[in-house]
Amino acid sequence: MNRLDGKVALVTGAGQGIGEAIAKTLGREGALVWCTDIDEQAAEATVAGIANAGGEARTFALDVTDESAWNALAETFESGSLSLDVLVHNAGMEWVVPLADIELSDWRRVMSVNVESVYLGCRKLLPALKRSGARHEAGASVVNISSIAGMVGYPDQSAYNTSKAAVRHLSKSLAIEFAAHEMNIRVNSVHPGCVDTPMLQEAMEAWAETEAFGTRDLAEVRKQVAALHPLNKLAHPDDIASGVLYLASDEARFVTGAELAIDGGWTAR
Ligand SMILES: NC(=O)c1ccc[n+]([C@@H]2O[C@H](COP(=O)([O-])OP(=O)(O)OC[C@H]3O[C@@H](n4cnc5c(N)ncnc54)[C@H](O)[C@@H]3O)[C@@H](O)[C@H]2O)c1
Repeated sequence: MNRLDGKVALVTGAGQGIGEAIAKTLGREGALVWCTDIDEQAAEATVAGIANAGGEARTFALDVTDESAWNALAETFESGSLSLDVLVHNAGMEWVVPLADIELSDWRRVMSVNVESVYLGCRKLLPALKRSGARHEAGASVVNISSIAGMVGYPDQSAYNTSKAAVRHLSKSLAIEFAAHEMNIRVNSVHPGCVDTPMLQEAMEAWAETEAFGTRDLAEVRKQVAALHPLNKLAHPDDIASGVLYLASDEARFVTGAELAIDGGWTAR
């Protein structure tokens, strides 16, 4: 408890799934959490959950692909000269489609939601992150949710895999850049395996429909997806939130440019 006391955090895509778990974990540990999502109602529900547990949270409607929305968010921080201690880029979209069926507009949409969003967040909120870096010895912390798909290939999701690999490398690039300019802002990426969220449910439905696992039975697909991980199970969103909490906390003061796989052993083979 209280590993983030006095810190201000912001999470994108905080309305459900992994983002909701991250926001609630950071709130439980004492951070004031800005819960942002394209789905305002979902973000408000997360804020209510944090408040009910005795934490403090705010909501902000943010489509991560919308530069003007990022500008409005940044202005909120600038007008109060507010610091941002923890920035979690979590919002993302999966796209399970073979290359032959991906239109250029689809490809660009995936890059926009998954990669440009990380550029926009770091770019627009940099002054607020710098203020935090100047104040705290352990530095500000940016945590980018990539995927095992950013480390190894997987069939029929080349746009998604490419976007997540870009997030991994952008994280390392910014980690080195911020260190070189002595900003005291750490940047790390997190690489989940398959996590039991609405996004995975949709992917599994698509795999059942296309018989990608040799069956149309959703329960059987789920079993086979779990079996892809050496630990033979799916992750719970809290498993990912625990890793983010470590990277966000002062315990990770010497950790930057790292990639944290939380994948039941998937990438260890
Ligand atoms: N679920 C998995 O198995 C898995 C595995 C590896 C990585 N990830 C990554 O974890 C992150 C979260 O995944 P999830 O499974 O919780 O997804 P999810 O689809 O269940 O939830 C995503 C949240 O992001 C929000 N969102 C979507 N587009 C947005 C936009 N343009 N602007 C702002 N908010 C937007 C949605 O409203 C939703 O609340 C994603 O980046 C995903 O790629 C998920």
